[in-house]
Amino acid sequence: MIERTLSIIKPDAVKMKVSGNIINIFETNGFQILAMKKIHMSYKQAQDFYKEHQARPFYHDLCTFMSSGPVIVQILEKENAIKANRDIMGATNPADADTGTIRKMYGESIDNNAVHGSDSATSAVREIGFFFSELEIVQ
Ligand code: CMP
Repeated sequence: MIERTLSIIKPDAVKMKVSGNIINIFETNGFQILAMKKIHMSYKQAQDFYKEHQARPFYHDLCTFMSSGPVIVQILEKENAIKANRDIMGATNPADADTGTIRKMYGESIDNNAVHGSDSATSAVREIGFFFSELEIVQ
């Protein structure tokens, strides 16, 4: 099934100037980029985006990190895009990520792990709607 997923290239990867490399990985793996923009989230926006994690001990640090600098948000589309993107990203903790995955290559820690990708179809719909209006999405 052709799916859409929401990708975020996080502040650590943008600062390291590897966002182009990461976009290249998406393109060479057959993802269509239906929308893309660079934004600098406020702490409050990061809190809203990650609200499902609000009870977790890492929530404050996560929101501080995600609002620490610009990020690149994208809508990626391909067959089984949600799982395909999670496979390419690798495990949440770069120490556990397989060789060749984005987090293995560019992540430094579970907090600074280079990329985010939607974890389910329900999350993808919510996360895409959080950042993009219909007018911003290539049809
Ligand atoms: P992400 O895919 O953006 O979703 C939530 C983020 O919280 C996750 O990547 C990690 O960067 C961060 N995080 C920090 N600690 C943990 C943890 N123990 N479990 C899951 N995510 C964590």
